[in-house]
Amino acid sequence: MAGDTVQQIKDKLSITDVVSQYVRIERSGANFRARCPFHAERSPSFFVSPERGTFHCFGCNTGGDIFTFVQQIEGLDFKGALKVLAEKAGVPLDYARSKGQNKDERDKLFELLETAVIFYMSRLNEPVKKYLKERGITEETMRAFRLGFAGEEWSAALDYLRGKSAGGGSSSGGTFTDREIVDAGLAKKGEKGFLDKFRNRIMFPIADSAGRVVGFSGRIFGPEAHPDAPKYLNSPETPLFRKSRILYGFDKAKQAMRKHNCAILVEGQMDLLASYQAGWANTVAVSGTAFTPEHAALLKRMTDNLVVALDPDEAGFKAAVRAARVALAIGLNVKVAEPTEGFDPAEFIQKKGTDAWRRVIREAKDVITFLLDVLEKHAKDKSGLRREVEAVVLPFLSEVSSPIAREQYVREIAERLGVSEHAVAESLARVPRTSTAVEVHGVPKVPQERMQEPALSAIPIKERAQNFPRTRLAYAIFLWQQALDKPSIELGQFSSELLDALGDETFNALETLSNSEKETLRFQAERMYSKATVLKREIDALILVILRDRLSAELTEATKALKEAEQAEDEEKAAVHMSVCKLLTARIAQLHEPV
Ligand code: CTP
Ligand code: MN
Repeated sequence: MAGDTVQQIKDKLSITDVVSQYVRIERSGANFRARCPFHAERSPSFFVSPERGTFHCFGCNTGGDIFTFVQQIEGLDFKGALKVLAEKAGVPLDYARSKGQNKDERDKLFELLETAVIFYMSRLNEPVKKYLKERGITEETMRAFRLGFAGEEWSAALDYLRGKSAGGGSSSGGTFTDREIVDAGLAKKGEKGFLDKFRNRIMFPIADSAGRVVGFSGRIFGPEAHPDAPKYLNSPETPLFRKSRILYGFDKAKQAMRKHNCAILVEGQMDLLASYQAGWANTVAVSGTAFTPEHAALLKRMTDNLVVALDPDEAGFKAAVRAARVALAIGLNVKVAEPTEGFDPAEFIQKKGTDAWRRVIREAKDVITFLLDVLEKHAKDKSGLRREVEAVVLPFLSEVSSPIAREQYVREIAERLGVSEHAVAESLARVPRTSTAVEVHGVPKVPQERMQEPALSAIPIKERAQNFPRTRLAYAIFLWQQALDKPSIELGQFSSELLDALGDETFNALETLSNSEKETLRFQAERMYSKATVLKREIDALILVILRDRLSAELTEATKALKEAEQAEDEEKAAVHMSVCKLLTARIAQLHEPV
């Protein structure tokens, strides 16, 4: 992809524009500071530098620019992030140019799926539209979600994608091979060759966070449909379609989730369309898979609050309880929308209207209260309830990451059961903690000790610097100052002093660090020294120690060589080493503590 597109986007969007859409940032000196969205932490160690256009987290050691940030926070590849940011910046992406050349397998797969969406959309006929309208879905929503139809033909999609449509030439959609079409999950091998995988189905395209279609879910429709065929058929897992990471409707819900600071989780596509139409654009659907920690992490980056509104049947209840637990573990506040008179959300909205749905969402109960209510309703007596609470609710509580919230729950449970808070807390302490370590898109979970690191500002600069190899530190300060518009020291002088103190070899080795390593060093130097009252003095002291160490080491070497030469009675050599020793000793003697 053209490098100037990247540059254009960077010119239009600042790092703070981008980051602040996902996390609350606060000014901190020249930088902004936030609680890291990539790992759980109480005190903020995530920094954003508007001047350099980069971010860095000292807790989990991630960092980068706007592209890296969007990639990580939305779980996208580079091209996905490019698409998201190009849209944000209003920079058109030149797809035509990237066609043909430089296309990898993923691009080809994306292109194939996009072609298929257009094909299925073109087949959305009147009977299907009529059916959808009867279920309350407007044409506008059908268009927004790009609904389509797969008819009864055995290989209509295949032929279109192969570029061999029955209608001939003009309607030809693509030039994909059978292998590619099968790999994309749109065809399967039959006895006499390849067949369309989706037939007699209303097609719901499923997109990734950037809005690129990665798969389909097809709902059975039409008189020709086989009576034993499953109601829904989904694309298989492909390199693009990872069910544990993709939520239906997520790409459309992002903005609204951030705006309302809340997400709604429903079960199926129809539920999602209905909820979306009823004014809740912040709705996402699990659509046939279990709600995973990865799903939860994705939501957590957009919002702190989740309302679970699954189907009001036994399976829906169980799924809701499981989803709630996963969401709590990741640190979301979870509410459960009350079962709606036996209707699933789609039916409920159609029968009772949008206002009623709004009420259901607004009145959703906190998950612990919800569980207590359910148990209370079914318990025979107080001691039965106590046992149930211990077995069902307490394991839940142990997942709650906020100690404050946990304490409130303990209070509520104690009240309901008529026991002391102390007793509840004691039982809670006995609940074995399940491991909920989640690794999300390569962002490593931060070890516990690191998270309890005291606030950095509490540690004096000297002490902080001691944990850092001095040579790296000095070089880090150099990099940091070099990137400033107005450095607070004289750079030319500093660089020559630094080179002298480090020696060529060390300096050159440091120069070969990667860009991201250098950026990490900048953040580190900035963090340690941006509050230094006289930076020059700190630097002089540092340079002095480095230089003294280096000269002393050289002196030790030279002394050793001198001894060896004397023992070997090589007078010429001994004289050379002697003069080196003298020079070094003189230089060391000249060094003095700066005043
Ligand atoms: N689902 C699936 N495979 C099935 C059945 C269901 O993947 N065989 C998924 C679909 O994503 C579906 C969701 O589970 O949307 C909920 O299933 P269900 O409640 O049975 O479907 P509804 O959404 O109620 O479908 P409809 O209203 O069209 O009958
Ligand atoms: Mn349903």
